[in-house]
Amino acid sequence: MSVYLGIDVGTSGTKTLAINVDGTILASATAIYPLSNPKPGWSEQNPEDWWKATIQSVREVLKKGGIAPDAVKGIGLSGQMHGSVFLDENHEVIRPAILWNDGRTTEQCHEIESAAGGREELIDLVANPALEGFTAPKILWLRQHEPENFERTRQVLLPKDYIRFRLTGEFATEVSDASGTLLLDVKNRKWSDRLLELLQLDSALLPKVYESIEVSGQLSPAVADQLGMTAGVPVVGGGGDQAAGAIGNGIVESGVISATMGTSGVVFAHSDEVQTDPAGRAHTFCHAVPGKWHIMGCILSAGGSLQWYRNHLGGVESLAAEAMGVDPYTLITAQAEQAPRGSEGLFFLPYLTGERTPHCDANARACWIGLSLRHGKSHMARSVIEGATYAMRDCLEIIRELGVPISEIRVSGGGARSKFWRQMQANIYGQEVCSINAEEGPAYGVALLAAAGTGAYSSIEEACRSTIRIVNRVPSETQAVDEYNRAYPVFRQLYQSLKGDFATIANLVGNS
Ligand code: XUL
Repeated sequence: MSVYLGIDVGTSGTKTLAINVDGTILASATAIYPLSNPKPGWSEQNPEDWWKATIQSVREVLKKGGIAPDAVKGIGLSGQMHGSVFLDENHEVIRPAILWNDGRTTEQCHEIESAAGGREELIDLVANPALEGFTAPKILWLRQHEPENFERTRQVLLPKDYIRFRLTGEFATEVSDASGTLLLDVKNRKWSDRLLELLQLDSALLPKVYESIEVSGQLSPAVADQLGMTAGVPVVGGGGDQAAGAIGNGIVESGVISATMGTSGVVFAHSDEVQTDPAGRAHTFCHAVPGKWHIMGCILSAGGSLQWYRNHLGGVESLAAEAMGVDPYTLITAQAEQAPRGSEGLFFLPYLTGERTPHCDANARACWIGLSLRHGKSHMARSVIEGATYAMRDCLEIIRELGVPISEIRVSGGGARSKFWRQMQANIYGQEVCSINAEEGPAYGVALLAAAGTGAYSSIEEACRSTIRIVNRVPSETQAVDEYNRAYPVFRQLYQSLKGDFATIANLVGNS
């Protein structure tokens, strides 16, 4: 039997998954680690923790699946994007990695934009505007604030690429994750010599770039021993968690897009050509499909909004759910269903941690607008779910505006689990939504890349076609679509009306 491993170095833990050649999951295991916030807005992790979690989860998967040492024929790597691991000349980690959700680099983002000659010029060079979470501003931050550490830095690696280095000894990355560094010429799928020169960064700091399906190295003998595998297993490029998750959802051809609602929410479209959003609201990155790209919009609090509601306002429902032995979200969703569509004029803006797409506004905040004596908890719960779904539609509208065809929307994550929320997505998007058989996300996507990259399939498209099936379709309902089409512009306008006030509030809090 041939087995393929997918390893996903996430923010809360590393998940390893084993599949066989027809995509059947043989075993999976997750090992968790902490996140550190040494200062407000900072977010760091210790790369050694990722490595320990990799060893632990791989060994557990091999054991659980009863997988023989020589059965593993390929490994694919995925992970949280944008994080920076700084290595010295002895390949030792210099300081904790600075992560995708770290907000310390606003000044460096301005610096990058002006070095490029402006926002439009930057988008021309690397297809995206400078955002605090991306990697390049983190390197500039190190140069400015920890010059002694910067002087010692010889390599900058993304999280999953640090694990690749530990597995194979190779310094390598692949196009999808490299796109999120802001240093890749996304159109030509190679490092942007021009931007590196403008930022006075040495290209030797960066690893070699592969296509996601290409073999980037082999498992070293010492590590193979430690993991209980045979040396020489090929490790393919893999993908950043979004591109890898999209492969796991079968988003490998034009027209098929995904809407994934976990804590955050992502609308992801495959694109045959490189297409940028001139306003910089959506990200344009290389896809993990060779020679293809993707456009994605990312909202920060999708399921996160409902989680906040459950934690702070759903105490009674959570206790009742515990007593009944059901998931608290089942009760909260049932409560939301009691309120009429549109929550009788109650709107929730889901900007609990600011917003990325479409506003790029760290000061934006969540709020309810329109509360009256008629409104109770069912309205509040429903409006939270509606607000998160309207925000997803904001991402979808950008993709529509760019002329990307949308023939099929695949929904996944917490927002796809209940029939109620799936139906709401269909009605708010104004289009049928469907769900697929695979629910495993990025780890599954890179296990498929490992299978395709080592010859089990002729292409990643073929691997997806052979393993991923639609198992459920929810058509939109005409009257509901009409009602939501009338309410959505109001949702859209509310941010515009409140934008100035959000800035004032941020100032007030900052100055208090
Ligand atoms: C993508 C992004 C997140 C992180 C963490 O742009 O910031 O998906 O990769 O999951």
